[in-house]
Amino acid sequence: MSRATFASRLGAVAAAVGSAVGLGNIWRFPYETGQNGGGAFLLIYVLSVMFLGIPLLIAEFTIGRSAHANVSRAFKMLAPGTKWYLTGVMGMLVAVIILGFYTVILGWTLCYTWRALTNDFAMTVATAQTVDPQLSSADVMAADFSAFSSSVWSPILWMAGSILINAVIMLGGVQKGLERASRIMMPALAVLLLILVVNSCLLPGFAKGCEFFFYPDFSKVTGRTIITAMGQAFFSLSVAMGIMLAYGSYLGDNTKIGKTALSIASLDTLIAVLAGVVIFPACYSYGIDPGKGPGLVFITLPNVFMQMPGGYAMCLAFFMLVLLAGLTSCMSLFEVPISYLQEEHRMSRRVATMTVALVVCSLGVLSSLSLGIGSGVTVLGNNFFDLADKLTSLYMMPIGGILISLFVGWRLDRSITHDALTNWRNDSGWYLRPLIIGLRYVVPVLIAIVFVGNLI
Ligand code: PHE
Repeated sequence: MSRATFASRLGAVAAAVGSAVGLGNIWRFPYETGQNGGGAFLLIYVLSVMFLGIPLLIAEFTIGRSAHANVSRAFKMLAPGTKWYLTGVMGMLVAVIILGFYTVILGWTLCYTWRALTNDFAMTVATAQTVDPQLSSADVMAADFSAFSSSVWSPILWMAGSILINAVIMLGGVQKGLERASRIMMPALAVLLLILVVNSCLLPGFAKGCEFFFYPDFSKVTGRTIITAMGQAFFSLSVAMGIMLAYGSYLGDNTKIGKTALSIASLDTLIAVLAGVVIFPACYSYGIDPGKGPGLVFITLPNVFMQMPGGYAMCLAFFMLVLLAGLTSCMSLFEVPISYLQEEHRMSRRVATMTVALVVCSLGVLSSLSLGIGSGVTVLGNNFFDLADKLTSLYMMPIGGILISLFVGWRLDRSITHDALTNWRNDSGWYLRPLIIGLRYVVPVLIAIVFVGNLI
C-alpha cells in the first residue's frame, strides 16, 4: 500500500517539533521544576534529554523510516516472526491512555483561552470580591479552578470540544491535516512565546525567578526527582512509545536523521526553558509560590496577568500558546492509533478517526470525573487521572524506551541502521558507533536503574 509522507522536510520537522512541544513543556515542565527544587531538576532533565532522549529519538526515526509502516507493522517487517511487534502495540496503548488525560487538560486550556478572550478572570474576581472584599485574587482563582476542574459537565464539554477540533484536523490526513496545521501553528507559537519572554525580562521578579530556575540546589534531589526528570524528558520529546517512530515513517529518504533528532530535541528543550523563563519571574514578581503543582498554569498565571499592566493581551497570548502547543501534540498522539487502525484493520481514515475519538472521549470522561465526583475511586491510592499519567510516564514509557533501544542496539540488522543513518552512504554517519554502544548498554541500563530504583 502506498503511504502518505510529509510534503517537505520542513513540514516533517515542524510536525515532529509540534508533537514534542506541548502541554508537557508549558504546563508540566514548569510545575515539576517548581515542585522539585528548580535548577537541579532542570540539570537532570537536560542530561536525560542528551543521553537518553536523543539516542531514542534517533532509534525511533531509524525504525520508522526503514520500515515506512505503522508502529506494530514496522517491528513485524524488521524482525519477522518475533514478538517485537508487541513493543509497537504497547506504544499505541500508551498513546491512547495519554490522550485520555491529555485531552482533559487541553479542554481546560480551551476553556481558559475563551475566558481570557472574554476577560472573564477579572470579572470573576470582581464578582467574588463584591461578596467578600477580604478575598485576594489568588484565593478567588484557586477556588475557581478547583470548582471548575472538579465539576461534572463543564470540563467534559470543553474536553469533547478539544477532541472534536483534533478529529477535524486528523480527517484531513497527513499532509493536508497534520503537516499544514503544524506549519501554521508552530511559527505562531514561537512568536507568542517571544512576546511573553520579552515581557518577562521587564518584570521586577525577573532575577529572582531566574535564580530559582537556574541555580541547582542539590539538597532537593532524591531518586524520585531523577525518575520524574527522566519521565518528563521522554514525555516531552514524545519518545519511547512509537510516536516518533510513526513520524519517522513519514520522513523523506534524504532527511538526515541525526541532525533532525538533534534539532527537535534542542528546540523542545529551548521552549521548555523559555516557558520557565516566562513563568517563574512572573511568580516571584507577584509573590506566588512556584511549587503549587499542576494548577500552576491555571491558577497562578491568570492571577499574575491580572496584576500586570497590559495583562489582558499577555494572558490571551499565553493561553493561545498553550492551546497551540497542546493541539499539535494531541494530533501526533491521535496519528498513531489512527494509522494503525487504517493499515492493520483496513478502516477508512474517517472510521478510524471516529473510533479513536470515541475511545479517547470515554477515557477522558473518566479522567475528568476522577477529579471531582469520582475522586473516591482509586487504584493504589491514585485516581483515574493520576493513574493514567503515572502508568504511562513512570512505567510504560521507561519500558518502551528500554525495548526500543535494545531493538536497534541488538536486534535490528546493522546494515539497515547503517543505511538509515548515512542515508545510503551519502553522509558520514560518524556517530553510528557511539550511538550503537549507547543503545546497547548505556540507555537501557540507565533507564533500568532509575526504573527499578523507583519501584523499590
Ligand atoms: N510531547 C508532548 C508534550 O510535551 C506530549 C506527548 C507525549 C505527545 C507523548 C506525544 C507523545 O506535551
